[in-house]
Amino acid sequence: MLRLIRTRDTSTLSGLKLLIMAQIIALANQKGGVGKTTSAVSISAQLALLGFKVLLLDFDPQASATSGLGVERHPEGRDLYDAFFGKVPLKDVIVPSSIRNLSVVPGSHDLVSLELEIGRAPGRELILRSALADIQPQFDLIIIDCPPSSGLLTLNALGAAQSVIVPLQAEYYSLEGLSGLLNTIAFVQQTFNPELQLLGVFLTMYDARTNLSLQVHQEAEKHFGERLFRARIPRNIKLSECPSHGLPICKYDPQSAGAKSYLALAGELIERLELNKDKPEGGSEEKAA
Ligand SMILES: Nc1ncnc2c1ncn2[C@@H]1O[C@H](COP(=O)(O)OP(=O)(O)OP(=O)(O)O)[C@@H](O)[C@H]1O
Ligand SMILES: [Mg+2]
Repeated sequence: MLRLIRTRDTSTLSGLKLLIMAQIIALANQKGGVGKTTSAVSISAQLALLGFKVLLLDFDPQASATSGLGVERHPEGRDLYDAFFGKVPLKDVIVPSSIRNLSVVPGSHDLVSLELEIGRAPGRELILRSALADIQPQFDLIIIDCPPSSGLLTLNALGAAQSVIVPLQAEYYSLEGLSGLLNTIAFVQQTFNPELQLLGVFLTMYDARTNLSLQVHQEAEKHFGERLFRARIPRNIKLSECPSHGLPICKYDPQSAGAKSYLALAGELIERLELNKDKPEGGSEEKAA
């Protein structure tokens, strides 16, 4: 079996049929309320609408991504907690969303007690990675919405991911707060996931009329250079309204400034991840080795 990470081009190579694995991307920032969930939902839905087969994994016990998409837990009560502890395979807790090509692993409040339950067991940061292995060939992208902490849930997300993207709120102290996350990423790279890369940072709740937003943009450019995404997500009332309608912004108000900015961000992600842009509408078929 050949694992191909950088592209989902499905052609055969030297007569070998390729098993293409989803790229796994974590949206992380230990600071709360910076736009992780809004971005995870908006990007996942946008990429799904563009034809990529996307799984959004809600790894936050608050389960805001789940409710923001109007998704219910699995009808038989199985959830991510059960899958995390190996009681059911992860594929059995996946539910469809109202968006074509977008599936969801709903969040589970029970994950709050994870650290206590797992203790210091060896390999405890790689449990999600193992759980995702079976379903990776079924998707183009798996996007993980992380909770606002650098605890075991975030470590598991970073242990499973190839890439991490970081929303940065255009606010005072947002860059200072990032050093903790960057240290965590470096720790993960050095210990249990050397494959992990910081794919990029993007500004959220940006207000071009304020000096503060402009200053944060300049600082972020200085710190991150090319890794700062060009797309800036504006502070946009439609983005704060759409979760209460259970709809992602690209469905709730596709003409809004929020939807357009997430479309631009999705375009940059496609470039950086070297995804096949000519994806046929409707997503990809599953491949087998
Ligand atoms: N660009 C935006 N414009 C206006 N409101 C926004 C924007 N992005 C997010 N919000 C709102 O800000 C709040 C926090 O956003 P969100 O839940 O996405 O952050 P988070 O980082 O996931 O939070 P947490 O750390 O608690 O998980 C929400 O009420 C959301 O609707
Ligand atoms: Mg969140």
